[in-house]
Amino acid sequence: MAIIVREQVALGPQTTLKIGGPATYYIEVTTESELEEAVTFAEQKALPFCILGGGSNMLVADEGYRGVIINMRIQGRVYEQINSEMFTVHVGAGEVLDDFISDLVERGLWGLENLSHIPGSVGATPVQNVGAYGVEVADVIARVRVFDAETKTFFVLKNSECGFSYRHSIFKEKYNLIIVSVTFSLFVIPKPNVTYAGLTSRLEGVPSLRNIRDTIIAIRSEKFPDWHTVGTAGSFFKNPLLTQSEVIVLLKKYPDIPTYPASNDLTKVSLGYILDKICGLKGFTIGPVRLYEKQALVLVAEEGATEADIKNFVKIISEKIFLKAFIKISQEVTEI
Ligand code: EPU
Repeated sequence: MAIIVREQVALGPQTTLKIGGPATYYIEVTTESELEEAVTFAEQKALPFCILGGGSNMLVADEGYRGVIINMRIQGRVYEQINSEMFTVHVGAGEVLDDFISDLVERGLWGLENLSHIPGSVGATPVQNVGAYGVEVADVIARVRVFDAETKTFFVLKNSECGFSYRHSIFKEKYNLIIVSVTFSLFVIPKPNVTYAGLTSRLEGVPSLRNIRDTIIAIRSEKFPDWHTVGTAGSFFKNPLLTQSEVIVLLKKYPDIPTYPASNDLTKVSLGYILDKICGLKGFTIGPVRLYEKQALVLVAEEGATEADIKNFVKIISEKIFLKAFIKISQEVTEI
């Protein structure tokens, strides 16, 4: 199938922040060979390309994207039983994550239920190692199939080759690697993960997959605005990772900040808490942009907000945090 190239396609409506101008060229790809064609098209035009999944973590520039947007639509879910305890599932990068998780819950397969209702596509999940409520996708990813846009080859990376850490992977650095499918290892035997405090307190006895999914959906609906109706990208910022000496200094000043151990001897500190309880910024508003009143780490962009509004807002928030806590924050959302 030959690819269809569209010009000047508005990108705002394709992202959950609902901001930004058009793409010079826009191509939807549903197969690996269409992906290869789309990359070759960008090369022939001497333009950069950018892969668009569900658009849930992307801030598009007001002037748009000068290049080729490749909308990843490769579908497919292949279930393979490995033994009495395990399944592997090969999933096309363009599948909607929550449709897949809903299917897993119906089939009684454990591993991804704590990520229920996260917007976005399956192929986007390895990029920033999507995580919530005690689970990260890296916990259940067996391997990732990629297309290397430089060498024009397809190959498979094992989990250990993906460089996963908190909200990070090699796919954040090697833009030439395009994810085409993800293979998950999932459990037939119950593996409830109720380590997240807010989850334990709501569940009684041994929870079923359905109990966990329903409880996660309930928690999320209390903490996050509905991205169908307002502009948002979930957590806009990452929780900062600090060295032991930095944490000691911070906790001396603010002993109640929640902290969590992370890899490489670093400690993750709760930016939501800092924004809310230390800086008093929950609900802080500048024009059409604000920090959500039920979760300060979540940024909300009302209709009409621009990329410039967001950037100005982020600059001011960053300065306020630095003044109070001496932390330089970084954003989770990707700018294009
Ligand atoms: N907190 C406050 N005030 C706030 C927000 C949070 O005091 O306004 C406190 C909470 O009471 C809690 C702590 O901060 O003690 C952590 O809050 P929460 O459990 O809501 O988690 P988070 O660290 O703010 C992270 C992820 C979310 C994920 C939740 C739940 C990041 C950047 N964010 O948020 O992921 O849903 O944990 O696991 O790691 C996303 O990445 O887009 C995202 C939504």
